[in-house]
Amino acid sequence: MTSASSSPDEIPSLYGPGKNVKRVRTRHLIEAKERGEKWAMLTSYDQYTAALFDEAGIPALLVGDSAANNVYGYETTLQVSVDELVPLVAAVARSTQRTLVVADLPFGSYESGPAQALETAVRFMKAGAHAVKLEGGRRMAAQIRALTNAGIPVMGHIGFTPQSEHAVGGYRVQGRDAQAAEVEADAHAVAEAGAFAVVLEMVTASVAAEITKQLPIPTVGIGAGPDTDAQVLVWQDMAGLRRGRPQRFVKRYAEIADVLQGAAKAFADEVRAGEFPTKAHSFE
Ligand code: KIV
Repeated sequence: MTSASSSPDEIPSLYGPGKNVKRVRTRHLIEAKERGEKWAMLTSYDQYTAALFDEAGIPALLVGDSAANNVYGYETTLQVSVDELVPLVAAVARSTQRTLVVADLPFGSYESGPAQALETAVRFMKAGAHAVKLEGGRRMAAQIRALTNAGIPVMGHIGFTPQSEHAVGGYRVQGRDAQAAEVEADAHAVAEAGAFAVVLEMVTASVAAEITKQLPIPTVGIGAGPDTDAQVLVWQDMAGLRRGRPQRFVKRYAEIADVLQGAAKAFADEVRAGEFPTKAHSFE
């Protein structure tokens, strides 16, 4: 889709590799909402997935604090630190040409107040991020305002916020009944504080649709139904690297775990049988 008002430096469509390697900027995501163009975000934590997803035309990559579970093997996201996430952000930023790289601020790195949030966000921006994400609605408005005032684009994250899992009593859908007004108030607070987009996690589809209509900035759903402006998934869930029963909101588009394990077994079998290496893999 091409906007009639596109100037040569604008990305007419968020999708499609190759032709236009200019970096996606936050304004392109807002313009996509205005055109009614939906887009996808994936997590990425390393060089190879970042380059593949960038070439696939994914316009935004999130170096999520979900690296806690998906890279570092922690049980929850509470355990991962800024020091552990900064090198992953740097790797993803170095390995992409076009996608907007969003760095997730981990638990304990921004809640104390705007000054702490600014100090942490600056570390991620210096590592190569183009924006940061933080969890919380009204209670984080001052932090979002401080970052945007400092020129750091912020993606909000409301609804179910995993870093507050213990406070909200576990993984629970947000926005049912009287809670709908709370979630809507958080969405407005985040947008008014200057965020360029907001993740809605495990929010009822009807509340997410209403928020999406009301806000001028894109909503990025995960377990928030079909009517948000964008959708995000953790790549290991989307591609089937993580085994076990996925959460209801996940769709698996591949079974990478089977492919990878099959390759490992085939390699081991050939080594045991003396079939690898052959002359073709050897030096005279
Ligand atoms: O860290 C993460 O992967 C996230 C997404 C689930 C939105 O915050």
